[in-house]
Amino acid sequence: MTGVHRDWRPRLPIAVLISGTGRSLANMIEKIRAGELDCDIRLVISSTPEAKGLMFAEKASIPAAVLRRGDFPSREEYSTAIFDRVRAAGVELVVLAGFLKQLAIPDDFVHRVVNIHPALIPAFCGKGFYGHHVHEAALAYGVKLSGCTVHFVDNEYDHGPVILQVAVPVLDDDTPDTLADRVFAAECEAYPRALQLIAEGRVRVEGRRVRIAAPA
Ligand code: GAR
Repeated sequence: MTGVHRDWRPRLPIAVLISGTGRSLANMIEKIRAGELDCDIRLVISSTPEAKGLMFAEKASIPAAVLRRGDFPSREEYSTAIFDRVRAAGVELVVLAGFLKQLAIPDDFVHRVVNIHPALIPAFCGKGFYGHHVHEAALAYGVKLSGCTVHFVDNEYDHGPVILQVAVPVLDDDTPDTLADRVFAAECEAYPRALQLIAEGRVRVEGRRVRIAAPA
């Protein structure tokens, strides 16, 4: 016993969807372990068996499934398979963490699917803007600020209501790699912060505006 007492708080049951390295998933697992994020990752779903992120799920003993888009005739059927798993696991919030397939959001999951995008939406987002493509486009345009955006997911790429954004400077000698690292460092704070706000029941959507209530 450390003698440190922490009030018990209910944990929001989430599923994390990945397609790649799962660095955001690893960060969430760490924040949960550190007692900084009141979420319970019930399930990880990957769109490919090659996703390195599956390792993080295995190491943390989180149930994982692979559902390949190519095994389903349509986006709707693929999404149905995913949300069936999600419901069966008792999940209340679906968290996209580098998940690169477009979903059809069912009615019962409207404003219950979130994503992080490595730019300040609506800049450098939409189909084809993922990973390094985003940072290359930001540098080519010459913006002085970039950052990350946590948003609810709707049926268009990178389009749903914005929950929070964190800006980072773009420096004169940046390469896509150095900018990506700075943005990712911001993501590691922004995503858990947004998830914690949702877990605390402080996030409300009014049209396109997302309202954050003060702590209880
Ligand atoms: C996320 O951190 C996010 O910035 C980006 O993928 C990263 C995780 O991918 N998402 C998008 O670009 C979505 N449009 P990884 O797990 O493969 O590193």
